[in-house]
Amino acid sequence: MNIKNNLILALDVGSESEAIDICEKVKESIDTIKIGYPLALAEGLEIIKKLKDKFGFKVICDFKVADIDATNEKICEETFKAGADAIICHGFVGPDSVQACLDVANKYEKELFLLTEMSHPGAKKFLQPAADEIAKMGIKMGITNYVAPATRLDRLQDIRNIVGEDAYIISPGVGKQGGDGKKTLEISNAIIVGRSIYEAENPKEACENLLK
Ligand code: XMP
Repeated sequence: MNIKNNLILALDVGSESEAIDICEKVKESIDTIKIGYPLALAEGLEIIKKLKDKFGFKVICDFKVADIDATNEKICEETFKAGADAIICHGFVGPDSVQACLDVANKYEKELFLLTEMSHPGAKKFLQPAADEIAKMGIKMGITNYVAPATRLDRLQDIRNIVGEDAYIISPGVGKQGGDGKKTLEISNAIIVGRSIYEAENPKEACENLLK
């Protein structure tokens, strides 16, 4: 995925009007947004097409898909049918569940991001011990896109070492969660930033500061 300024906006706002307002303010700096449950549950999946049509953005759906293969397939179908360019799935559910997501992404000629280790402190308890194996599984399955944390650069580097330089890694955790954008981008291909942009008094300036 080609992401302008290597910066993805996590658009976790609660309404279409707030989403449009933020997008208007940052549209010069970004061309890719991440939509998760907060906005999709508030406004429905139609929000994907609305924002794509209005701003020409690429949309990554952060639905952290983590079910059995048959259900994952249905979730991915609905998401790509709604216009998403990519979807994020969990890896801890194992290869059959992830393969179902990959198959649907391939069918729509869209992209799948495999989540290895999450960025929040709680991820250390269950997910971190499994993350290297999840990344190795992804490589074995031919997956080229990964999500790994900006909050723990040592772990981000470990995951980069496993998936290799050719893999595309996007990293949440910059700003509010404590991660440093510049240092993260020495390892990752793109950073995901939410609250530090959409809660800022001046979201445009917040983007520009991140890009410095
Ligand atoms: P903030 O406001 O902390 O938003 O800048 C971060 C965004 O990223 C999501 N998030 C994650 N998504 N793997 C993911 O796939 C992760 O490890 C992870 N950590 C945070 C979060 O939901 C928000 O949208």
